[in-house]
Amino acid sequence: MGLGTWGSGFGAKGRERRYPPFPPNLRALLICLHVFSSRLQSDLAINRLAVAVERARGGGHPFIDLTESNPTRAGFDYPADLLAPLGDCRGLCYAPEPLGVLDARRAVASDYARRGVSVDPERVVLTTSTSEAYSLLFKVLCDPGDEVLVPRPSYPLFEHLTGLEAVAATPYDLEYHGRWAIDLGGLARAFSPRTRAVVMVTPNNPTGSFARQHEIAEIASLCAAHHAALVADEVFADYAWSPEAARLAGRVLSVCEALVVSLGGLSKAVGLPQVKLGWMAVGGPDATVRQLIARLELACDTYLSVSTPVQLAAGELLARGAAVRRQIQARVSANARELRVRAARAPSTEALVADAGWYGVLQVPSRVPEDDLVVSLVEEDGVLAHPGYFFDFSRESFLILSLLAPEDRFAEGTSRLLRRFA
Ligand SMILES: Cc1ncc(COP(=O)(O)O)c(C=O)c1O
Repeated sequence: MGLGTWGSGFGAKGRERRYPPFPPNLRALLICLHVFSSRLQSDLAINRLAVAVERARGGGHPFIDLTESNPTRAGFDYPADLLAPLGDCRGLCYAPEPLGVLDARRAVASDYARRGVSVDPERVVLTTSTSEAYSLLFKVLCDPGDEVLVPRPSYPLFEHLTGLEAVAATPYDLEYHGRWAIDLGGLARAFSPRTRAVVMVTPNNPTGSFARQHEIAEIASLCAAHHAALVADEVFADYAWSPEAARLAGRVLSVCEALVVSLGGLSKAVGLPQVKLGWMAVGGPDATVRQLIARLELACDTYLSVSTPVQLAAGELLARGAAVRRQIQARVSANARELRVRAARAPSTEALVADAGWYGVLQVPSRVPEDDLVVSLVEEDGVLAHPGYFFDFSRESFLILSLLAPEDRFAEGTSRLLRRFA
């Protein structure tokens, strides 16, 4: 079930609507203030939806999970020997390379080449995950109290990823006018003297919108003018729902004027989140790129967190994992189509237009608050969906549906949802 997939059971997003309700125990609050840092919120209560899900599970009430974002639990056919390359006996020898072994960095560069993007392997840095890449980048780019601009709506983990590095996340908006676009004026106004980076997710989670080339160019100019880096999370880049959508996607690593870092990983590229290999590919002005890589080398050397076996296996895993990626591509495209068709038949709902990714966004009538809606969907309709507010949608009501569910389950889940609004 997807509530835990982003690490926190969306604890952060449950904060405003916590269950059971505040007020807190004053003594516990004082202990927290004295013992712990303020990098994480002090209230760790789980949200109402997670409580409802636990109750449904405990009570033996089955539901269709349209929040599942863990591909290894979504019924794909993983070849039994897919992970065999991890057994390479060269892995018995430990010869640490802070940026990653060159063969693995070459394999990642070849994977970018598969998507038509040219990257020098020397500009590739390995991490255990995209989350770790964010953490390293925020460490080397930001001092405590600096800020990064993050998209809204977007990936709920930014609140933790920035908070854990003592960095402030300032939102900039994506707006929907028949398709999603970045509010470039708002983004320009969001810069402050403490802005060290702009984070862009392309295609974005959950809106499924690729940043277009003109958006990337304009953001790169703003970054250059403010001496900020552009961090582009491209983990879903392989999941365009049509060739036309892929064609219209902007190329982040074509940016020359600003420091730019593209993020990716096995987690999404080949559906292997448990294997723990992510990467950064760095672009931009040569001198600044060299400086960033030198700093990342020192930061990576401090942890040496990427295991030797996974680095030695990287090339093989990327090659063999293509079989899994193709299954995921076929399923998310089919489910996105299904959602569009079914929503079009239900006059009060709309499937928002998108290009790519593992999620669909359904706009629904605001008859009750989203929080109540998602709980009653679990309890009364037997279907679990995420509310838009988990992803910081600026208004209600939106439901976010994972497109990873097997097609028949997805069709049944969406018809249960849509019946409610008929
Ligand atoms: C936009 C985005 N970036 C990164 C990740 C996580 O990637 P990783 O498993 O490499 O940390 C996710 C996971 O859902 C995501 O949605």
